[in-house]
Amino acid sequence: MAFQVEILPVKKHFQTEEKESLLHAALRAGLNVNHGCTNGACGDCKARLVEGELSQIRHHDFILTEAEKNAGDILMCCHSALSNLKLEASLATDGSDIPLQDITTRIRRIEHVDDNTLRLYLRTPRGNTLRFMAGQHAILKLDNKLQRELPIASCPCDGLNLEFHLHRDSSDVFTNAIFDCAKKSMPIQISAPCNGITLVENDPSPILFIAWGIGFAPVQSLIENCLSLEFQQQMVFHWVVHEHENHYADGYCRSTDDAIDNFHYNPIKTKTAAEAISRMLKWHNNLEQWRSYIFAPPAIIDSVVEILCEKGLPKEKIQSDPLVA
Ligand code: FES
Repeated sequence: MAFQVEILPVKKHFQTEEKESLLHAALRAGLNVNHGCTNGACGDCKARLVEGELSQIRHHDFILTEAEKNAGDILMCCHSALSNLKLEASLATDGSDIPLQDITTRIRRIEHVDDNTLRLYLRTPRGNTLRFMAGQHAILKLDNKLQRELPIASCPCDGLNLEFHLHRDSSDVFTNAIFDCAKKSMPIQISAPCNGITLVENDPSPILFIAWGIGFAPVQSLIENCLSLEFQQQMVFHWVVHEHENHYADGYCRSTDDAIDNFHYNPIKTKTAAEAISRMLKWHNNLEQWRSYIFAPPAIIDSVVEILCEKGLPKEKIQSDPLVA
């Protein structure tokens, strides 16, 4: 049986299944509620029951004081709903709401999607999952010597399994080490979240995602987050790659386009940025009501922003994250 939960004071709602932890259900719905260990040890997911009935589904080592228990405090990772609920809980609405975490992860899988691009899948220890918002970055460190800041490509609803995309770059020692030497179970330290751009959740404007090459990584995280939040506005994704490269996640983008009525995907292969921009603009007459998130090399961002503004998109509704080679 499913129950409705209302988070106060922000009045956000999510649905939870019987015996599902309230934390899991909130994250699945795209709500970034405070949490840490996910297993009853840290107390970060503490919330206050205002109305409804709960059951405890897991033992917790974190000790609530008698005063906290009397006030209705519970741990969201250790309780499920037995009725519709109202809870007071803290939600991150901005990247700066989430503290920097240092976690030693292990490589779970490496997927070479073509000669020059790979997807790196990391797993955090159970009980030490990463909390972040879609669009944020992490600093990855190998042996505490080589390091690289990368956008997180996975959904914030799963802080245990993290995904990053790398493009081979002969001048980048970290990337070369991953391409040439990385193996399953190898440790990688991460410090996150940091930098990047995050979703403006309370804006119903239609959304224009624009990515160049590997700029797809943060777009994937943002799209997953928009789908979890059940965004109803139109979302258009223009993905530009050089004519010799591939849209390495073309299948994901096409199947999302097929499955989600308000999501549209436009893959563009071209030699020049000018041609890419002109092919994007064929989709749009007027952008006055839109919001845009751009992930591209710095020089291209400047040109794209200029053209979008000429099409009426207000500059304050454009967020960009420069891809650093
Ligand atoms: S997330 Fe740590 S106790 Fe719930």
